[in-house]
Amino acid sequence: MDHFALNDGELFAEDVPLAAIAREVGTPVYVYSRATLTRHARVFREALAELPSVHIAFAVKSNPNVAVLRLLANEGYGADVVSEGEMNRALAGGIPAADIVFSGVGKTRRELTAAVKAGIGQFNLESEEEGVELAEIAASLGLRAPCALRVNPDVDARTHAKISTGKADNKFGVPYDRAAGIYARLSALAGLDMKGLAVHIGSQISDLEPSRLAFIKMGELMEAIRAEGLSVTHMDLGGGLGVPYKASDSLPTPQEYGAMVVSVAKDWGVTLMFEPGRVISGNSGVLVTEVVRVKEGVVNPFVVVDAAMNDLARPAMYDAWHDFAAVKPNGRTMTANIVGPICESSDTFAMGREIDEVASGDLAIFRTAGAYGATMANTYNSRALVPEVMVDGGKWAVVAARIEPETILSAETVPDWLA
Ligand code: LLP
Repeated sequence: MDHFALNDGELFAEDVPLAAIAREVGTPVYVYSRATLTRHARVFREALAELPSVHIAFAVKSNPNVAVLRLLANEGYGADVVSEGEMNRALAGGIPAADIVFSGVGKTRRELTAAVKAGIGQFNLESEEEGVELAEIAASLGLRAPCALRVNPDVDARTHAKISTGKADNKFGVPYDRAAGIYARLSALAGLDMKGLAVHIGSQISDLEPSRLAFIKMGELMEAIRAEGLSVTHMDLGGGLGVPYKASDSLPTPQEYGAMVVSVAKDWGVTLMFEPGRVISGNSGVLVTEVVRVKEGVVNPFVVVDAAMNDLARPAMYDAWHDFAAVKPNGRTMTANIVGPICESSDTFAMGREIDEVASGDLAIFRTAGAYGATMANTYNSRALVPEVMVDGGKWAVVAARIEPETILSAETVPDWLA
C-alpha cells in the first residue's frame, strides 16, 4: 500500500499534486512519501512482534537519502551499511553508532578503523582474513570489535542471478562447512567480541521457502557452535523480502515472513537482527518524468521520456519492471515502447507495453522507485544527478538537490601539458 493515488483525475503524493512538484523542481525527480515510509517501517516491525528480542537495521544501500534515514531513526530503526560513506550518512541521519551494522565483502583497513573508532554496533565479517585484520586494528586501539560471522548457506534464493548472494559460488560470507571452525578461531582473538552469525541469501525474494531453509541451517550451525562452548547471542537474518513491482504481482507479506521467522527462530535465545531495504523504501517512492515526444516506430510508437537509465538503472541492469502511469490520465491507453534519451538501447524502460495514453509534454511516473533508484543514479551522457523530494501530507521539501552537469564539469581540469 502506498500514498500515490489519483485525486480528481490527477496523481498526488499524499496531498500534493505531483504536477506541482514537477513544475517547481523540474523533471526527472524522485518523490518519496513520508506516510508510506512510516507505514512500511511499522508494518515490518509489527510483523516481528512475536519474537522476544529484535533489532531492525534498514539497508541504507536501498535509499541512503539523509531525510529517509532521519525518518527511520525516528521510528527506532538502526542501519545496515556497506561503506564509510553509508556509515557517515546513517550517523548524520541520527542513527546511533551502536545501532549500525557494517556489512560488505570489501571493507578496507581505513573503513574498519573509522568504524571501530565510531563505535559501530556490529561488524558482519565476510571472511576469516577480515576478522584477523579487524582484530589487529581494534586491539591496537585498545578496543574489542563486536562481530557476527556471515555464512554462505549455499541456498538458492530463486531470484534474479545478479542479486542472489547465498549460493556457494557467490562471493559473500564463509562456506557453511567451515563456519564453525572460523568462528572458534576468531573467538580466540582479543580484539574481537564474537556475538553471532549473519546470513543474507538475496534480494527481491518472492518465495519464503529458500529463506526458511537457510534459517534452519543457520539454527543448526548456531547449536553446533554453542556445543563447542562458545557463545551466540545475536543472529542476523539479513534482508531481501521482495515487493510487488506490478499491480498484479503477489508476494509474501511482511506478516507471512514474520510468521515464518517465528516458526524457525523464536526459541533460539538470541537477539534476532533484520536488514530490510526494499520492503521499507520500494513502494515509498516514484520517479516523475516528462514525455519529451512520442516517436513513430515500426511496430509500436516510442514514448521518449526525460528520465533515463542513469536516473533509474534497474530496467537496464536487471530487466526490471516498473509500472508506468500518466499523472493526468485521459482514460485511453496505447501500446508503446518507453525509452530514455541515452544513446544505447539498454536505455529502455518497457517494450510493447499497454500504458496510459501520453503525448509530448505530459507528466508520468515510474512506480516502486524508492529502493535502488536515486542511489544507483549516475551522470552518464553528462546528464544531471537526479533530485529527490519528500512529501508529508500537504507539504513537501527538496531532500536532495539536482546536481547539474556544470558542477561536475567544474571538478575536472585540463593539465598544463595538454594546454
Ligand atoms: N543485507 C545485505 C547484506 C544485502 O546485501 C542487502 C542487499 C540487503 C540487506 C537489503 O536487501 P533488500 O531487503 O533491499 O532486498 N540493486 C539491486 C538490489 C541489490 C541488493 C543488494 N543487497 C536491485 O535494484 O534490485
